[in-house]
Amino acid sequence: MPILFFPFLLLSASFAQQGQSLVKPGSFLTPTTNSSWPSPSGLYAFGFYKQGNGYAVGIFLAGLPQKTVVWTAQRDSPPVPADSKLNFTSDGRVVLQSAQGAETLIAGTPEGGASSASMLNSGNFAINNSANQMVWQSFSFPTDTFLPTQNLSHGQVLSSSVSDTNKSTGIFRVLMQEDGWLAMYPVGTPYTLEYGYGGAGISGQKNDVVLQLEDDGHLYLINGAGVIIVNMTDGYPAKDVVYQLTIGFDGILRLYSHDMNQNGDWAVKWSLPSDDICKPKGLCGINGYCVLNDLQVGCKCLPQFESVNKEDRSSGCQRDFIAEGCRSDRYAMEPVPNTVWENNNYSIVTSTTQDNCEEACLRDCNCEAALFKDEVCTKQRLPLRFGRRDQSDSTVALIKVGKYSTPTIDGFLPKESKKEHYRLDILIVGVSLLAFALVVMAISGIAVYRYRVWSYKVISNHGNTALGEDSVDHDLPEEEAILEEWVYQCFESGELGKLVNNEEVDKKQLERMAKVGLWCILDEPSLRPSMKKVLLMLEGTVDIPTPPSPTSFLSTI
Ligand SMILES: *[C@@H]1O[C@H](CO)[C@@H](O)[C@H](O)[C@H]1NC(C)=O
Ligand SMILES: *[C@@H]1O[C@H](CO)[C@@H](O)[C@H](O)[C@H]1NC(C)=O
Ligand SMILES: *[C@@H]1O[C@H](CO)[C@@H](O)[C@H](O)[C@H]1NC(C)=O
Ligand SMILES: *[C@@H]1O[C@H](CO)[C@@H](O)[C@H](O)[C@H]1NC(C)=O
Ligand SMILES: *[C@@H]1O[C@H](CO)[C@@H](O)[C@H](O)[C@H]1NC(C)=O
Ligand SMILES: *[C@@H]1O[C@H](CO)[C@@H](O)[C@H](O)[C@H]1NC(C)=O
Ligand SMILES: *[C@@H]1O[C@H](CO)[C@@H](O)[C@H](O)[C@H]1NC(C)=O
Repeated sequence: MPILFFPFLLLSASFAQQGQSLVKPGSFLTPTTNSSWPSPSGLYAFGFYKQGNGYAVGIFLAGLPQKTVVWTAQRDSPPVPADSKLNFTSDGRVVLQSAQGAETLIAGTPEGGASSASMLNSGNFAINNSANQMVWQSFSFPTDTFLPTQNLSHGQVLSSSVSDTNKSTGIFRVLMQEDGWLAMYPVGTPYTLEYGYGGAGISGQKNDVVLQLEDDGHLYLINGAGVIIVNMTDGYPAKDVVYQLTIGFDGILRLYSHDMNQNGDWAVKWSLPSDDICKPKGLCGINGYCVLNDLQVGCKCLPQFESVNKEDRSSGCQRDFIAEGCRSDRYAMEPVPNTVWENNNYSIVTSTTQDNCEEACLRDCNCEAALFKDEVCTKQRLPLRFGRRDQSDSTVALIKVGKYSTPTIDGFLPKESKKEHYRLDILIVGVSLLAFALVVMAISGIAVYRYRVWSYKVISNHGNTALGEDSVDHDLPEEEAILEEWVYQCFESGELGKLVNNEEVDKKQLERMAKVGLWCILDEPSLRPSMKKVLLMLEGTVDIPTPPSPTSFLSTI
């Protein structure tokens, strides 16, 4: 349950009559003084509350020591600075005005014409026109929370927040469907059975079913004829208790209660889905799967995958090896038992074994994973979505992994300390750098080799040696030695010009290159300069010591 503190609010916790509830055009609020309009009971207030490094506008429980946001205006807009104003303009609109004069409509209609606004005791912020008809109410635009006396009718949605402290739109939603079901879905999916992860209702209803919550916590679905079709709770006898229904950032819909005579926390009275908190689809992002960890959500990555952002589990996982080519001997299949996933198969093999399923995927370039269950093998492409561990499900996810890649660090858990993440990051960066260095070395090795062969050809074409072209491939070591020796002699005698056939070149640069070259071709690896040193040498940033003669060095070992 999100609990936010508003030290700048000086409302007392008592429920005595607090100020007026009727607000007239011309009134305004600022984040720091007169920051909200309270309900007559003082329990709810409409106005500014602290969010991130600024302020947001919404409705919150101001009458409790632990203040809770129940509605947010423009929830996906960034927080506003302290010099903003909430202005009930004389033409009858409640607008947020920046110091620069930019306006955002918060409540009321674009045409304006409102003559009063009131923060009602129910937690509903309502705007009436001059004919005293309600023209706008916050209850019609719910965010993540549903209050007693509010209605959720067909087509209306509650959307989760990003986190307890960030009320921007999150990744789960609960919809009052036309078929009379209250159904839960991740964002970005169609409202169809295969994407739902929870719900309540009974079949055969018309589109007149409404979700309602009574002041006593009685939560039910009621149809147009006034008949309750499903009781989700039966209500609770307690007096002085407030209730609210909220879809959490973890995708679970919970009914909370708070006893106003006690300074305690909010208590969970009911939840949906109630059996498995891993059920909300996409909780762990793509290529990740949810496991129960001490009754808490834990997220793991597929083998040889790494979490994209450790601070945000829904960001999912990405491969930590580079999948190259398609040769089946480069890959292996790693099983992830008892996990369920979205089945997005492109090919199905029936009456088969797990071994054959693995084999079939290994041989298929398009296959990146396979799901095996009851002798049926379905080939999949990445990403895999909506994964969770389910011990009662025999599905084995078979993941194609690199055979020769570094061992993977298995998954991640939200409670891991930052220090561990940090070390992991260093490890990953280190391994990447090492791999990069190896690649560079390999490339420069090839380049040096090619360069030597090429130089030899150039030189022999100029008739400086007696060796024929066709022997290049066969007697390379010998030729190489001769070539090195010749370069060294030219260098020693200060006749490097011979190397370039006495063409006009930058002598300094030529000498530098020759010296670096002689250092780099030394047979003893420990004597060769590092890549970084070579770059500095070629740049001229560091002096290049006189290289030893390749032959003299050879003769010393
Ligand atoms: C707050 O608003 C009330 C009337 O709405 C006004 O009397 C009072 O001066 C205001 N306080 C500040 C600090 O602006
Ligand atoms: C809230 O979350 C959204 C989406 O992740 C992000 O863009 C925004 O900056 C966050 N706001 C605050 C105040 O942290
Ligand atoms: C409210 O807005 C109106 C017009 O948009 C402006 O004239 C008035 O000065 C504003 N009130 C405050 C207190 O800024
Ligand atoms: C606003 O209008 C509704 C009817 O639409 C009425 O019941 C309510 O009393 C009005 N509110 C105020 C503050 O006049
Ligand atoms: C909720 O629905 C009932 C009947 O369906 C209606 O009387 C009531 O005014 C509605 N409440 C709100 C806040 O819209
Ligand atoms: C729901 O609960 C109410 C009383 O709380 C009861 O009258 C009604 O019969 C129940 N309906 C169903 C469908 O259980
Ligand atoms: C294959 O995938 C489709 C959806 O893409 C699904 O409807 C079907 O049930 C899957 N087949 C098997 C055998 O799992």
